[in-house]
Amino acid sequence: MSENIIVNSVQNNESYPLIKLDNVWKIYQMGEVEFAALKGVDLQISKGEFIVILGPSGSGKSTMMNLLGCLDLPSKGTVFLKGKDISQLSESELATIRGRMIGFIFQQFNLIPTLNTLENVMLPLEFQNADPFMSKKKATELLDLVGLSQKVNNLPSQLSGGQRQRVAIARSLAADPDIILADEPTGNLDSKTGTYILDFLYELHKKEGKTIIIVTHDTTLVRYAERVVHIKDGIVESIEDIKNN
Ligand SMILES: Nc1ncnc2c1ncn2[C@@H]1O[C@H](COP(=O)(O)OP(=O)(O)OP(=O)(O)O)[C@@H](O)[C@H]1O
Ligand SMILES: [Mg+2]
Repeated sequence: MSENIIVNSVQNNESYPLIKLDNVWKIYQMGEVEFAALKGVDLQISKGEFIVILGPSGSGKSTMMNLLGCLDLPSKGTVFLKGKDISQLSESELATIRGRMIGFIFQQFNLIPTLNTLENVMLPLEFQNADPFMSKKKATELLDLVGLSQKVNNLPSQLSGGQRQRVAIARSLAADPDIILADEPTGNLDSKTGTYILDFLYELHKKEGKTIIIVTHDTTLVRYAERVVHIKDGIVESIEDIKNN
């Protein structure tokens, strides 16, 4: 099968859960020493859910986000994306799927230091060979939305931490992904800006049916969630179903 057929078959397959982790382990190797950051995680996420994965520092949240976002493969167990075992996909198929389906807001933002604010936000669209005029228009709108219209020409080094975070948020939305994965999205924001951003993600979920997955230690974000996954020491301790309770 050609790459595009495989990618389309994953993207359009609605008969399976969106993401499923089946007995997932992540073991980091440091020389002779092994460290199990995830220890047999089972989790199923449906399309359109708003999920908060909550746990203290070091509990395995970013590790889990990398697996949910198909940026990493498990050491043991299986990650299924719409029924497809992601370890069966090539790196370039995974990259295409990520580019089309998933928007990332990374804990460390991962902005490109040599690109200005506008160019950073346009990047996901450029990867998809979008029309440059439309990319610029979309990026400008998103930067307006996150309150950074005045900073389009600044480099990341010329922005505050909260402003960088807002660029990362705008970038995550540029390609109009179905899934938004956010790692501590409010970590560098004052509570007013944080609430604004979370309300915005909540609207995307409500109005456009986007799947939002947030990993955080911040218990105040629980109020947005339909389900809360409590993680500690690499183990899912409990899953709270708020929507149906
Ligand atoms: N590349 C790595 N090599 C070795 N150990 C790692 C690596 N990445 C993470 N770890 C360890 O795995 C555990 C989970 O890390 P992870 O980054 O997933 O935690 P987290 O819940 O995101 O924490 P925080 O809230 O501080 O961001 C930690 O104990 C960490 O030290
Ligand atoms: Mg983390």
